[in-house]
Formats: sequence, structure tokens, C-alpha cells
Amino acid sequence: MATTSSTPGSTIDAPIQIETRDGVAVVSVDNPPVNALSRAVRQGLVDAFSTLADDATIDGIVLAATGRTFMAGADIREFNTQPKPPLLPDLVAMIEASPHPTAAAIFGTALGGGLECALACRLRVMTDDARVGLPEVKLGIVPGAGGTQRALRLAGFEATADLVTSGRMVGSSEALELGLVDQVTDGDPVDAAIAALKGHLASANLPESASNRIVSAPAQDLVARLRSKTAAKSRGQIAPMRALDLLEETASLSFEEAVAKDRDLFLELREGNQAKALRHLFMAERTAGRPDDLANVEPRQIKQVGVVGGGLMGSGIGYAALLSGYEVVVVEQDANALERTRERFEALFEGAIKRGRLNKTGRDRLMDHIVLTNNMSDLAETDLVIEAAFEDMDVKRDIFKALDANLRPEAVLASNTSYLDIDMIAQAVHDPSRVLGLHFFSPAHVMRLMEIVRGADTAPDVLASGLAVARKLGKIPVITGVCDGFCGNRILKAYRTVAEFLVEDGASPQDVDAAMTTFGFPMGPFAVQDMAGLEIAYANRRRQGESTDPAERRPQLLERLVESGRLGQKNQKGWYRYQDGERGGRSDPETDAIIQAAAAEEGITRTRFASEEIERRLLAAMVNEGARILQEGIVAHPSDVDLVMVHGYGFPRHRGGPMFFAEQNGFERTLADVAVLHRAYGKGWEPADWLTDAAKNST
Ligand code: CAA
Repeated sequence: MATTSSTPGSTIDAPIQIETRDGVAVVSVDNPPVNALSRAVRQGLVDAFSTLADDATIDGIVLAATGRTFMAGADIREFNTQPKPPLLPDLVAMIEASPHPTAAAIFGTALGGGLECALACRLRVMTDDARVGLPEVKLGIVPGAGGTQRALRLAGFEATADLVTSGRMVGSSEALELGLVDQVTDGDPVDAAIAALKGHLASANLPESASNRIVSAPAQDLVARLRSKTAAKSRGQIAPMRALDLLEETASLSFEEAVAKDRDLFLELREGNQAKALRHLFMAERTAGRPDDLANVEPRQIKQVGVVGGGLMGSGIGYAALLSGYEVVVVEQDANALERTRERFEALFEGAIKRGRLNKTGRDRLMDHIVLTNNMSDLAETDLVIEAAFEDMDVKRDIFKALDANLRPEAVLASNTSYLDIDMIAQAVHDPSRVLGLHFFSPAHVMRLMEIVRGADTAPDVLASGLAVARKLGKIPVITGVCDGFCGNRILKAYRTVAEFLVEDGASPQDVDAAMTTFGFPMGPFAVQDMAGLEIAYANRRRQGESTDPAERRPQLLERLVESGRLGQKNQKGWYRYQDGERGGRSDPETDAIIQAAAAEEGITRTRFASEEIERRLLAAMVNEGARILQEGIVAHPSDVDLVMVHGYGFPRHRGGPMFFAEQNGFERTLADVAVLHRAYGKGWEPADWLTDAAKNST
């Protein structure tokens, strides 16, 4: 370390420390885990800067942080209450107005309010592996403490619009190129910041404060281009477009006027439904899969992961495990299947190389950690095996018997089943307490959701091991109990059933899909089914059909489509007709004829449905099933349902998930919509007690 002198550290307020090094005061935020700008931190920094203002013995101030990162932004937990002074804009203004020259020493991440504080300094130094960003839109807001305006003056309109509307983080070389930071270091950021500050002072060329720089209004064609790009990406989210509009409007204003407008929009959006929904998910994502009863349970040590079945799902799981640092063994049944598995892995590696996520050396290194084999006995040393074979109870039980015979007794045994009864699978082994479900979503190396299925006998440390693996894989784990389809596929079934009823009763598949994409889903239920292949849903429907009460109305159309050879995109006809070279499907008179014939046979007089009616019925179906799942104790919290639907099924993030959306709009409204379903579809569509209670409690 390049320190030549220092005075003992002094503490202004608990989360802030000041020490003097080399004649420079280093003000460090110490507020684990991510040095969020809580009220105490803001107060501590204000106190520090006002104390140091009168200190004639120092040459400058370095704004720094301890622990794992520079300040990662405002404290999101404080967003649900009125902010207490000192407010962030006042702190930022105070940093910029400091009579001493200032430098920020960035490492880890400088995000949101953290970057706004750094941008108020005269200089910024960042470590080469650090990242900076203004991720506010991801929380449904815009930067509210001058960050946009300072970035605009440092990096220009186009770069700032990109940063603010996407919320993406940028690495050190890009940040340097954009002018957001002045220097990148591979050493200690505080040492580098002190040296940079002193160097600039010695040569009397300290940069101007960002707010004093000149900004020019953007060209109209640039704004138009950014506007269409942002509209396409934000799909129903309001903050990105509002941010762009504001940026355009404020580019011709004085810094003070512009910052005041930023603040107004920040305050307006912060109170809005979208910001509340996004905050809800931010917190839910970080608290998911942490049940109280596992607080003191140690997971088992997992280093080597086995996967049985090298199909699309098994390869994706193996690949995800490999990328996260596990040794991986994939078992397939014969040489041909193994060859296809090898090809799948190669395609995954190639894809990553093409996208610049991996280089050839990285791939070769990863390949040293994977074994593809036909022998179950090669799983002998694995600590966890995930079975990803064909969705059939007998097949799965046979595999588990073989695992029982080949693995150490303490190894954890998991099934990736999406519907089947984990307890029945567990009965195939001597010790069912070592069995749980780890339900990945396809593609397994991309999708973040993982349902962790707790069987009746699953041991606490086995469950804790599943959660630890999920976290290491970067997944969002949601614990569910055993039931057909667990949480997600059970809700999907209710959703698809009502979607089909609506079409039987008079809507077109396009009407239904359009209503849901307007709501914010990336695709409607029929387009999704065509993409996945209709026969998967068909096989499931037949399996479940055996246990369905004959008094309940059953959807008819899927069966008829599959039985007339319509399998979806794979044979260019399903709910829609597909033509070579076209991404989306078109309506097909053949499908219409099948629908009309089915409705006529059932004696249904078809009528049109307004888009809002479609949306309300489909949401009511999801929420009511979510409520049943909650009342049965399959998941513990409404936010678990939200996470499952947002991360596994395309529910729009800015709506917060079905349960949050229902609560935000009043549970009584959903209860009334469920009553409509009950009247229209009869038995099986009664409102869940949980929902009835929630509606009662919220009035
Ligand atoms: N406020 C409060 N807590 C936060 C937080 C924040 N801004 N950011 C992270 N945390 C907490 C998490 O809840 C988590 O807590 P637990 O350990 O108790 O679960 C912990 O910090 C670690 O977070 P992650 O698990 O996400 O850790 P990570 O290493 O994977 O990621 C991170 C770190 C990149 C900083 C990530 O947490 C992140 O992106 N945080 C959000 C940053 C953000 O959006 N900042 C802008 C806030 S808005 C703003 O600043 C504008 C304004 O002016 C008001």
C-alpha cells in the first residue's frame, strides 16, 4: 500500500469512518452488506463533510467504502416510507460544494445513489473489475439526485439515455471511455484516488465539477431512434420512457432546473404501482428460500453433481452446474444418446463463445470438469444427483433404485420432475429423507427460477443443500410442497384452461394472446403452447384427466388440435399456422373450423369477449389457484407465487406477480372476477378460502 502517513481513524457516526492518509481525508462508508445509503449513512456523510469543510490541515477528501463494495445505492428498504432528512440530493450537493477537492474510490459496484455521490466528486477512480450504473428504472424510478444530469454532462446524451433507460451496469473500460470515471486501477482504489487527487493538484488541472460542464441539446433523429428502441424494450414499463422524455426536456435547461425536474419525476414514480411492484420483487428475490426452520441447518457438502439424462433439460442442468464450478457427471443410457448429449454440450459451448461469454481456453478448462458416461457406477463419488429423465413414474423409480445401489448413502438424490409425486419417487430408495425435487425451467442454464420440492420425508439438511446449490447456480429458489405441478405448473394449468374456455366460448386465440401481451406477458398462452409443442401439454392433460371430476367442465380444444395432427411450431401448425421465415403465427381457418365444430358439439353459443374481460378472467384464474396453493401450504408466502410466475412463466415484472397485482388492485376485485369464473365454468371454480379471507381482511 502506498500510504506514507496516517492518523488514527475517527468515527463521526457509526457507519462512517474518517482517517487521514498522506494529508487527504478518507471518508469511508461502513454499512454492510452493500453500503446502501440508509438515513444513518446519509447523516454520517453530511456530518463528515461538514466537519471536514473547516479542516485546513487536509489537501482533499476521498470518498470510499469498506467491505465488498462501494455504495450500491439508496437503501431500498426505506422506499416504502417517507424519506427522512438528510435527503440524498442534499448530500450530493454538499459533496459537490465541498471546499476541498474530492475523489471517489470505486470498487465492487457504484450504483444509483452511490454513483450519484461519486459523480458529485471532482475525480473518480475505479478498480478494473468494478462496475457502475444507474439501475433506477429496474426499480420503476429514475435517478433523483442529479445523477442523470451529471452523467449527461460527462458522457453525452446517447450514452446517458442508454444507461438511464436500460439500467445496465458498465465495466471499467467502458466507464473510462464514456468519461464517467477518470482513471482505472488494478491496485487499491483509495491509494489510487489519493495519488490521482494529489497529481491533479500538483499540476493544477483538477477537472471541473460535472454540473458546471456545458451540455448541448440532442439531435431530433437521435431522440426519435432512442425513443423507438426504448419503447420496444420497455414493454409496458413506464419509467424508461419517462426517463428518456425527461432527458430530452432537461437537456436544454440549466443544471439546477434540470435536477429539480429529475427529482419531481423520481418522487412521482416512487409512489407509483410499478415502482412498488418492482421493489416487492427485489426484496422477495433476496428473501426467497430462507425458511426460519432452516436458519441453523448446515447443508451437505456438494462438489460433484451427477445428472441422469442428457436431453435438453439434463444438458442444460449439467451446463449450469459446470459454469458454477461443480464437477459434473452426466449419465445417458446408450452410446447414441450419449453422442447426442455431447453434441448438445458442444452447442451450448459454441453459443457461449459466439455471444462472447466464453473463450476457447475457458471452454477447454470447463470440459476438463465434465464426464459423459453410460455407467451409473460413475456416479459413485457424486454428492448430488439430479434425475432429468422422461416424465414417467416407473422410469423415474427405476432410476432412483439404481441411484440407491450406486451412490454413497449420504448423497442427495433429486428429481427434476415438473409434475410427479416426489414422495412416490422417494419410496423407491431405502432412505427417502435424502430425496427432494429440484425443478429447473427450460433452458436450465438461463431461467432463474428453481422450485425446490420438499417431500414428506426430505431431511432438513437435504433441503438446505438444494437451496445452497440453487444459490450457487444463481437461481431464485422457491420451496414448494408436493402436489401435481407444484406451484408453477399448477397455476399454468388453471391459466391455460380458462384461456381455452374463452376460445371455446367465442374468443379467438389471437384475442386471448393479444390481451395477455397487452398486459405485459412477452407471449400469450397459445403462442407459448405452439412454441413448446402441443403434445407435451396433451400428454399431461391425458394423465391428469384420469383424476378429474367428470362433473367439471373440461377443455376440449387442445386434444382436438393434436388429434388432427397440429403439434405447434414444430410442424408449422398448432393454434396458429406458421410460414417459413416468419417468427409469429397467423390465424388458420383450419383451427377456426376445429374450434367451431367443438363449440357446436358442446352446444355453446359463441360470443366475443372484450380484451379487459379476457385479462380479468385469466388473472383471476391464476390468483385463485395461487390462493389454493397458499391455503394448502404448498408455498409459504404470496411472494413465492409471484416469484414463480415472474421468473418461470413470463408474468410481467412491473406488475409484481399475480398475488401482488391482486392485492394492489384490491382482493375483492379478484374475488368478484373468480365469481364470474364460477358462474361461467361451474364446479371446480369456487373461490379459494384464502382469497375470500384476503378480500374480507382488506376491506
Ligand atoms: N438497499 C438495501 N439492501 C440492499 C440493496 C439496497 N440498495 N442492495 C442490496 N441489498 C441487500 C440485499 O437485500 C441482500 O441482503 P441480505 O444479504 O440480507 O439478503 C444483500 O444486500 C446482498 O445483495 P445481493 O444478494 O443482491 O448481492 P449480490 O452481490 O448478488 O449483488 C448488488 C449486489 C449488485 C449491489 C445487488 O444487490 C443490486 O443490484 N442491488 C440493487 C442496487 C440498486 O438498485 N441500487 C439503486 C437503488 S435506487 C437509488 O439509489 C436511487 C436513489 O437515489 C433513491
